[in-house]
Amino acid sequence: HRRLRVALLGAGSVGSQVAHLLLTQAEELAERAGADLELAGIAVRDVDAPRDADLPRELLTTDAETLILGSDIVIELMGGIEPARTHILAALSSGADVVTGNKALLATHGAEIFDTADQVGASVSYEAAVAGAIPIIRPLKDSLAGDRIKRIFGIVNGSTNFILDKMDREGLSAAEAQRIATELGYLEADPTLDLEGYDAAQKAAILASLAFHTRVSLEDVHREGIESVTADMIEGARRAGFVIKLLAVCERLDADGADDGTVGGAEDGTEHGTAGGEAISVRVYPALIGRDHPLATVHGGNNAVFVEAAAAGDLMFYGAGAGGLQTASAVLGDVVSAARRHIAGGVGVGESPRQSLPIAPIGRIVTRY
Ligand code: HSE
Repeated sequence: HRRLRVALLGAGSVGSQVAHLLLTQAEELAERAGADLELAGIAVRDVDAPRDADLPRELLTTDAETLILGSDIVIELMGGIEPARTHILAALSSGADVVTGNKALLATHGAEIFDTADQVGASVSYEAAVAGAIPIIRPLKDSLAGDRIKRIFGIVNGSTNFILDKMDREGLSAAEAQRIATELGYLEADPTLDLEGYDAAQKAAILASLAFHTRVSLEDVHREGIESVTADMIEGARRAGFVIKLLAVCERLDADGADDGTVGGAEDGTEHGTAGGEAISVRVYPALIGRDHPLATVHGGNNAVFVEAAAAGDLMFYGAGAGGLQTASAVLGDVVSAARRHIAGGVGVGESPRQSLPIAPIGRIVTRY
């Protein structure tokens, strides 16, 4: 067996589970990857901080730079822009394949990261960045590569879904529901990222980029969070036969031939991109959903993503959208793929050789409603 050195950056709720699984399921993973995956070290900010899983102390280090050098696969689960961005660029430049769950980074600096990966011939995989455990990145990137996607919509933020669901089903206040979501580790370290819709908007940007083969970044996404949703509003919706869900919608405005793409402020500069061509719209907002719609039955921290494709028709992806162990599954899948690719000496089977996307072949991105 070959031996690949794996560096882990970050040991929060997802990172500590990834480390735990790499250590306890090493043999199984080696069989599937075709190489021993040696966890060379875990870079953390504070080696004494409490962890969700028991990790061998000798693996913990505060020196990410040294750990990255000499690693074959670097798993970045620190979150945030810096120092994650610098570490990922360093890892790629040293020839390592990168696995990340960092939606904030990809939604704002995706072009830089993917361009760098293309230049050095390394891969960046990020199944864990969107909808936790649910396989949605690779289905969009690979399985549906021959189809034309018209629309993606659904629930991509587990913590706000958990909060809205608790309020709807148990009559809790927003503050009470939020406290429980925090205890379960569903919320980001900065909870406003979830509550104000940034997390969902980052994921929507990533999904729209893949679905429409263009670059959509966070600033292109119309965003409304759940801060203003009160227990009274939820109760009123319930009586009228609706439930309130935070939706992410990514669509081609010509999807059904019904819309000419002039929704929103074409005149006040809220659309951008090249003139002419098609328009897309990417938006996140709390929506009223009829209680008989499948999305109404997405409870707790679960996510559901609907994909409407021209040939495939309607597809539905459902599962845990947050949680350390659940999201660790998506990370490890990427690690096994990266290991196989690494051993094969380059581009893996079924993988797009070019990861960076062209800049907006689609004419306009509509950002305001
Ligand atoms: N805070 C995120 C959520 C975690 O609630 O969905 C998973 O990305």
